[in-house]
Amino acid sequence: MRKGIELYSFKEIEKIRTACRIVAEVLQAVAENIKPGVSTWDIEMIAREEAKKRGARPAFLNYRPPFSNVSYPAATCISINEEVVHGLPRREKIVEEGDLVSVDFGAIIDGYAGDSAITVAVGETGEEKRRLLTATKLALERAVEKATAGNWLSDVVEAIHGTAEEFKVFPVLKYGGHGIGRKIHEEPFVPNNRKDLGGKDIKLKQGMVIAIEPMFALGTEETVQDGDGWTVKTKDGSPAAHFEHTVAVTKNGALVLTEI
Ligand code: MF3
Ligand code: CO
Repeated sequence: MRKGIELYSFKEIEKIRTACRIVAEVLQAVAENIKPGVSTWDIEMIAREEAKKRGARPAFLNYRPPFSNVSYPAATCISINEEVVHGLPRREKIVEEGDLVSVDFGAIIDGYAGDSAITVAVGETGEEKRRLLTATKLALERAVEKATAGNWLSDVVEAIHGTAEEFKVFPVLKYGGHGIGRKIHEEPFVPNNRKDLGGKDIKLKQGMVIAIEPMFALGTEETVQDGDGWTVKTKDGSPAAHFEHTVAVTKNGALVLTEI
């Protein structure tokens, strides 16, 4: 597995950081506009505009991910409540009070990519969704701390899965983070659920750049694919949350690149 993993120089990491900073700025602008009454297509349009202003190309638009044989038709993935990931923005999909709205966005500039996701609570969501959000955010923070040279990929996975257990929520199966750099999806796969490690492990090395993206659900670790061919939902209809950062692994610890 190790063979396919790119190692990036500090100079290249700075280029990845440029893409990542734009992603963070776009997501900040998007977050300010998530309120009851806006459609997920409105959010998509804001993301496209904000990326364009900064000279970046949306990474997901017309991209064919490894898990699909068709290209993704939007710049963002917007997943609300029971939708976990890859939610396709739609004019008819309207944000409501109490929703958990996850927005995932990637950008490419000067040949390098950045990828990040946030989940926004719309108004008062209730205690359970708050717990889910807290757990997912904390899992990302803890996982990032483990992304240091000399640690193992399983340390990152354990930080994510262990946090889910602590908060009595579920790390979804099959979906997770990934290497990133010159391409949006590179080796290795970074699982959220320890079952997906499948006994394989990788030692983290200086220069690896990975997107870490915990996705937790309130009631199950299982998901189903929606009829639109993209949107992934929880099997039991319980809400999900998702946070993602692009992170560079160094000998002195993790560098979070998707920050302003
Ligand atoms: N945002 C997803 C990730 O973080 C990738 C979405 S690819 C798409 O890995 F094609 F579905 F947009
Ligand atoms: Co990603």
